[in-house]
Amino acid sequence: MNIQIIFYSMYGHIYRMADAVAEGAREVEDATVSLYQVPELVPKDILEKSGALKARQAFSHVPVATVGQLADADAIIFGTPTRFGMMCAQMRNFLDQTGELWSKDALVGKVGSVFTSTATQHGGQETTITSFHTTLLHLGFIIVGVPYSEKRILNMNEITGGSPYGGSTLAGLDGSRQPSENELAIARFQGKYVTEIAKALVRGRKV
Ligand SMILES: Cc1cc2nc3c(=O)[nH]c(=O)nc-3n(C[C@H](O)[C@H](O)[C@H](O)COP(=O)(O)O)c2cc1C
Repeated sequence: MNIQIIFYSMYGHIYRMADAVAEGAREVEDATVSLYQVPELVPKDILEKSGALKARQAFSHVPVATVGQLADADAIIFGTPTRFGMMCAQMRNFLDQTGELWSKDALVGKVGSVFTSTATQHGGQETTITSFHTTLLHLGFIIVGVPYSEKRILNMNEITGGSPYGGSTLAGLDGSRQPSENELAIARFQGKYVTEIAKALVRGRKV
């Protein structure tokens, strides 16, 4: 199976989560798992002023995704930080280039899943993921979240991201909070679970 994890990250929180999603996906036999980032749109001087230029160096080795590669995937797990309760413009811009794939039904039947990050606890994790799902449904993806069999999404002992919609983390207003072990474990679960479902679908199609 070709499993693609495609993300945008400005300060590294989503990148850390993407790595955990990949770890989980790699636990599934026969999975080829690749990480990609979508192209940056913010001008360099603005990135520099906000400290993002330095933060983004930590994952500058991750290749930039091309729209054409989506057609090769069996599952795509998307990661986006929240921007005003929705996906970031970099991800939106990337998805807005899938018109040709849409017209050819090239993404129909692939497994799609989303994880996110916000600054604050109620800053729009669920709206970011569920509004992302709308686009995935238009493209024909089979949407997968994180079922309650992953008991860590029920954790009330600490502030934590993670919901039935998908994995998530909280960065804090100044970005100083890093993904917690609970959040990373949920992300690993999501990667493994999506890959297992993709595997079952691929096997079924071959029968
Ligand atoms: C323009 C802008 C809008 C944002 N909107 C929200 C928001 O609606 N709710 C929230 O909690 N955080 C918001 N944030 C904070 C980001 O979601 C946060 O920096 C991000 O999740 C950190 O992930 P990253 O390190 O991968 O970039 C916003 C940040 C920016 C720059």
